[in-house]
Amino acid sequence: MSRTNSHKISVCISCKHKGTACQPGYELIAKLREAIDSAGDAIPEDFEISGVACMAGCDRPCTVGYHSSRKATYLFGDIDPDTDIEDLVSFARQYAHLHDGWCSSFDRPGKLKKSTLARVPASLITLEPNTERMQ
Ligand code: FES
Repeated sequence: MSRTNSHKISVCISCKHKGTACQPGYELIAKLREAIDSAGDAIPEDFEISGVACMAGCDRPCTVGYHSSRKATYLFGDIDPDTDIEDLVSFARQYAHLHDGWCSSFDRPGKLKKSTLARVPASLITLEPNTERMQ
């Protein structure tokens, strides 16, 4: 499988630990980058890991999104940088192998089975303005 660098992981840096002012997104990014780098060729795609503003999962901090062109997009909540890095790395490996990014909750690793806030399918068809639909 060729590396395309089109795979992205977005981590909310605005999320706060419940009841505190602590914003664990920065710690999560650092730990996730290190873990993904350590996985090496076990993950057959490069993942760009970025801090982003609020992804509307504020009641379930931290939120983490996986996305790639032509693949389903996922948003996970309740992610803790102290306990969930291994699950995030396992899902990166799984996501890299899925041609359309689609998988059921039963197939996701560990905590990600139950912490999915959204799964948005990849577009099946995109029509440009003035494009006639073929029948
Ligand atoms: S502050 Fe992180 S999802 Fe809203």
